[in-house]
Order: sequence, then C-alpha cells, then structure tokens
Amino acid sequence: MRTAQPAAAAPALIALALIALALIALAPATGAQAQDGAALFNAQCKSCHTLTGTNSPAGPTLKGVSGRKVAGAPGYAYSKALTAKGGTWTDANLDAYLTNPGAFAPGGKMFNKVADPKARAAIIAYLKAQK
Ligand code: HEC
Repeated sequence: MRTAQPAAAAPALIALALIALALIALAPATGAQAQDGAALFNAQCKSCHTLTGTNSPAGPTLKGVSGRKVAGAPGYAYSKALTAKGGTWTDANLDAYLTNPGAFAPGGKMFNKVADPKARAAIIAYLKAQK
C-alpha cells in the first residue's frame, strides 16, 4: 500500500506541471496585449537608431521621425531605394515599413521586421512621442 501513494500523487503532479506549462505559454500572449513601445524599441531598434538627433553609423536617428520626410535625417547616407520613396512618415507608412522594410523599399538598407501588429503600433506610438 505504501507504493500506492506516489502512484496516486503522479496524476496530480502531472496536472500541476501542465498548469505551469500553460501559464508559461500564456505569458507572452498576455504581454502582447499591453506592448511597451519603449521596451520594444530598446530591444529591437536601439542597436542601430538613436532618439537623440545624432545619426549612428548603423542607422539614421529616429528622433522626430513621425511627420519627418522619408529618408530625411540630415547627414545620413540613405539608400537610393528609401530616398526614392518620397513623402513623410505617417502611422500608415511606418506600419508598412516596419512590417517589411524590404517590400516597402526594395533594395533598402534596413531588414528588421516587426511581425506583431500590436508591437508595431506600440513602437510607432513611442516614436511619435520622441519629438
Ligand atoms: C541592424 C540595424 C537596424 C535595426 C536593428 C533597425 N533599423 Fe531602422 N534603419 C536601419 C537603416 C540602415 C536604415 C536606413 C535605410 C535605408 O537607407 O534604406 C533604417 C531606417 C529606418 C527608418 C526610416 C528613417 C528615415 O529617416 O526615413 C525607420 C522609421 C526605422 N528604420 C525604424 C526602425 C525601427 C522602429 C526599428 C526597430 C523595430 C529599426 N528601425 C531597427 C537600420 C536598422
């Protein structure tokens, strides 16, 4: 009868383990609902883009990018592809660019995609606040 106890406990342990796994699996999904634009920017963009107004060798500054001319940071050597786009950055074309920069400006110099629409919206909202 002594061996019966661990055997009876096993299903309960398995159930607990499954609950723990489910919680771990749900955590990123919950996070996606309240995306933090600053944290996303720091994780995915900051290696190449400043918000200080100074271009980095790896990318143009994104300070004031919303409403700025496309390929418009003074002193940055943009690709011909992005320069040729013209216009100004809006929520809509920033969203299109971040979805797939290579499709927005084929032959351009940026390759980082942001697949999650909520993450893109959070990053764009954050960029708009960087005046
Ligand atoms: C590996 C470096 C790198 C990373 C990481 C990167 N970018 Fe870029 N980005 C570039 C380069 C290079 C350009 C210039 C593209 C060109 O000239 O075609 C650019 C251009 C841009 C532009 C257009 C700026 C302008 O002045 O017209 C925006 C907006 C932009 N990036 C946003 C982002 C965001 C938001 C992220 C993070 C999700 C990001 N980038 C991540 C390198 C990067």
